[in-house]
Amino acid sequence: METNKNNFKPTVLVIFGITGDLSTRYLLPALYHLENYGLLPKNFLVLGVSRKRLNKKEQTRLLTKSIETKVEDVNKDSFKKLCDKFDMLSFDPAHEVDYTHLREYLSKLEEKKSLCFNRLFYLAVPPSIFSSVVDKLGAGNLHKTCEHNMASVRVLIEKPFGFDLESARELISNSRKYFTDEQLYRIDHYLAKETAQNILTLRFSNPLFENVWNNKYISNIQITASESGGVEGREDFYEQTGALRDLVQSHLLQLMSLTTMDRPADQSAHSIQKQRLKILESTIPISRSDIAEQALRAQYDSGSIYGDKVGSYKKDVGRNSTIVETYVALKLNIDLANWRGVPILLRTGKRMMDRYTEIAINFKENAKQKIPGNLLTIRIVPNEGVALKLVVKKPGFSHQTEEVSMDFCYRRSFDDRNPDAYERLILDAIRGDQTLFPTSEEVIASWRVIDSVVKEWSMSDRGLLFYPAGSWGPKSAKQFAEQYCIGWRPYDPAVCKI
Ligand SMILES: NC(=O)c1ccc[n+]([C@@H]2O[C@H](COP(=O)([O-])OP(=O)(O)OC[C@H]3O[C@@H](n4cnc5c(N)ncnc54)[C@H](OP(=O)(O)O)[C@@H]3O)[C@@H](O)[C@H]2O)c1
Repeated sequence: METNKNNFKPTVLVIFGITGDLSTRYLLPALYHLENYGLLPKNFLVLGVSRKRLNKKEQTRLLTKSIETKVEDVNKDSFKKLCDKFDMLSFDPAHEVDYTHLREYLSKLEEKKSLCFNRLFYLAVPPSIFSSVVDKLGAGNLHKTCEHNMASVRVLIEKPFGFDLESARELISNSRKYFTDEQLYRIDHYLAKETAQNILTLRFSNPLFENVWNNKYISNIQITASESGGVEGREDFYEQTGALRDLVQSHLLQLMSLTTMDRPADQSAHSIQKQRLKILESTIPISRSDIAEQALRAQYDSGSIYGDKVGSYKKDVGRNSTIVETYVALKLNIDLANWRGVPILLRTGKRMMDRYTEIAINFKENAKQKIPGNLLTIRIVPNEGVALKLVVKKPGFSHQTEEVSMDFCYRRSFDDRNPDAYERLILDAIRGDQTLFPTSEEVIASWRVIDSVVKEWSMSDRGLLFYPAGSWGPKSAKQFAEQYCIGWRPYDPAVCKI
């Protein structure tokens, strides 16, 4: 891993929700790794804010538990350095007076160091309070930096950004009261995964692919995010969200836009975001009358995963009447000359047979010669890599052919560990690079694609199917895909398994 003897500005990262699941499972381990690589600014402080009052011993325990759970060989020196850069403030996001305390804390820090700090506010709190926190940060004069306004203020907002099209618009207009779009960093951690970032390089640095990346050669694209886990302690969140909002609106539509966007004019955030947006704005929204044909939803029932018995979603959330979907499959079309006629299938599910996220690019077959289409698999997790299915002649005296796989696997080609998406996102926010953060326009455009489905599904259970935990989803998912292509590409656990 390259280390960067950086000259980043002094920075304070204020994490709202420091005791929560996201912070302890991802953000603190990510900060540890950044510290270990020497990538954090010289003057850097993490200020965790929480309604709980934790003394220094408890704070160290929080850090130790979070980092030891995620990191195998903790470097004691780096861990200590991170502890020295960590502090907490008792804070209730609902209380205006606490924003005054926060401002005073930050001013004191700057006075003590005689430095003006960049201020990053990371909202790792439930989405229901995003709007009110952003509002109170502005009203509390926290949208400005120290007296001479010498530094930057950035707000990092977790997903889901909004609850539907209308609430996303409201959240955007509310945040614009105090903050400019350049200050808002909307997190979509899929965009920061190593393989997701590699999509553009693979496509645009290999003429072999660039020239056939269109509807003349591609028959369909399938993007799958399959999870074996259930709701795991996040019942309330999931009951308010469901699979469509949680995974499709953000991650899957972003992966779709990376897979289908045109070559950007250059590598700048603006050029890349512009091309991603063009795809989202050209994706035909699913109309109410097309929902039955283009969208499928289901909820997991009891079953077994990797041999262990697990209960139903209803049991997991303790609500017998819940109609929240844990599985979604959608068929979309992009209304652009190079993509017209190519079905894009998206699917995601919880409590599925196995955990993987991948993009399958299915090239057209040669029906006349009975030659199957090539398949290019971009595996995001696990066993990151890219695999291409080729038809070859079987060794021997006959002319029999067989499909074989040619692959590039990160673990085989590179020694370094892949940085976690949150390491990349925190570092980019520190250095002010917005490339991996969706813009307001992208957020609006992606909600637009699914808005009628969001509305329809929240109103009634019409069409809600069930599937046993540990399966690949409801039975009719098979027919659903077969309307548009030869069917779902099955998961191949052998891809990049080393
Ligand atoms: N967890 C994940 O795997 C994950 C993945 C992707 C995105 N996200 C997003 O990240 C954000 C945080 O997720 P999370 O799972 O960490 O949430 P969480 O554990 O439910 O909540 C995070 C923290 O927010 C504070 N909090 C909770 N309810 C609050 C309320 N009503 N008012 C004020 N503070 C409250 C609590 O801290 P105190 O009690 O200490 O104040 C809590 O520990 C969410 O927007 C989520 O959608 C999470």
